[in-house]
Amino acid sequence: MLSETESNIADAFASQGQAHVLRHANTLTATAREALFAQLAQIDLELLARLIAGGGDEKVNFATLSPSPYIALGSDGANARALGEEILRAGKVAAFTVAGGQGTRLGWKGPKGTYPATVVTGKPLFRVFAEQITAAENRYASAMPWYIMTSPLNDDETRAYFRDNNWFGRNPADTFLFPQGTMPSITFDGKLMLETPSSLAVNPDGHGGAIRALHASGALEDMKARGIAHMSYFQVDNPLVRIADASFIGLHAGSTHSSGQMSSKMVAKRDADEKVGVFCESAGKTIVVEYSDMPAELTNAVDAQGKLRFNAGSIALHAIAVAFMDQLTQGDFALPFHRAKKKVPYWCDVQSKVHEPNESNATKFEAFVFDALALAAKSLVMEAARVEEFAPIKNASGADSPASSHQIQSNRNGGWLEQFGVKVPRRENGDVDARIEILAQTALEAVDLADASLPREIKAGEEIVL
Ligand code: UD1
Repeated sequence: MLSETESNIADAFASQGQAHVLRHANTLTATAREALFAQLAQIDLELLARLIAGGGDEKVNFATLSPSPYIALGSDGANARALGEEILRAGKVAAFTVAGGQGTRLGWKGPKGTYPATVVTGKPLFRVFAEQITAAENRYASAMPWYIMTSPLNDDETRAYFRDNNWFGRNPADTFLFPQGTMPSITFDGKLMLETPSSLAVNPDGHGGAIRALHASGALEDMKARGIAHMSYFQVDNPLVRIADASFIGLHAGSTHSSGQMSSKMVAKRDADEKVGVFCESAGKTIVVEYSDMPAELTNAVDAQGKLRFNAGSIALHAIAVAFMDQLTQGDFALPFHRAKKKVPYWCDVQSKVHEPNESNATKFEAFVFDALALAAKSLVMEAARVEEFAPIKNASGADSPASSHQIQSNRNGGWLEQFGVKVPRRENGDVDARIEILAQTALEAVDLADASLPREIKAGEEIVL
């Protein structure tokens, strides 16, 4: 017998052509049945119907799309840096990592932040960030709390990792982990899927889920209570990220090109095919068009000098005002959902087990945090030097892999040493021919090496940690 609430849920799903999700309800244990109904009660059926009907997203007008203007490399100015330093010293900046992704491309079992990332000591990404945050706290003599968004699929494991690593020597009260929400996957004919007899197949709702999750978890309130004004938002996959970049924070907070709500960093694209989103301007607003959505003729378009027209590659790093996030969580605002075809494991009644498909069998829905850029009154994009700040680890091999990240790390660190007269071996293509790691405690940027004791020369093939 179903309770009244359960029958209401069952009726609502049946009226949407989704009665099949309850096909095992009668044979489930009381606990399993409760869990299933609890999950179903969380589903927004109205939204689901809109998504199944093909709505819920926003279409870009490619005919009127133009490249986004940006603050070119090196033109940020001393005033911006001074303002950023003042904001950092006042303890008004929090670090915010989105780490809820499934990391399927890398093939790493476990949360991506636990992946060994640095070129010599193999420090995991979470430790790299923790050490950089601690070094920034020391430099600016202020606290920089760290917020990390996990997903229900990796939250337990991520928490256990932080506990097992003694919170990387930081005060546990200054690290705030919270899970993002999920969205159900649907088959190509618009049906919800069961992953087990008592649970729907769901996926994390995209990093755009951060907006709701920051609010729902109390993270936003926690930031306000601590007097945090801005978040330094970054992805879990980039060991070279600059979390506390005073110039960027200063531009974001003080530039006339910025409303101080949400700003971004870009690097010049490596080539047309690089898999990064691109900053564009559409109807006077800054937007990111994801590489998979950009028409080939725009991706490959060049200007009179033969340079890519849409050249501003997103490194997925943003400064976001707490007040802006707060404003977005009021009322029934929601980011659009993007669709992706994926292989989603589902419960096979005949085999009585989970089936792992070999080909895409379902649509996943994800919201992207950068869709909030268009809601800012004015949004600033600042150029960064690729070798200084962008060495993502996404794939097991090739571009954006551990190997390519290690090379960029050594290139950046070799370049820093050369600025102080150290002889660094380089190959014909300019790559550093040694493995060089510089710890955050030693230097957060090249100038910090002025006080370090440095070797006079590094030999080809040498491994060195400073
Ligand atoms: C992303 C950006 C791309 C940018 C590139 C830079 C998107 C859609 N694209 O591509 O514009 O140029 O990085 O490296 O973001 N995540 C969550 N929850 C989710 C999904 C993802 O927290 O539900 C996190 C991941 O843990 C990761 C980040 O978001 O830290 C990026 O996710 P991913 O989907 O791998 O994006 P990319 O294709 O790498």
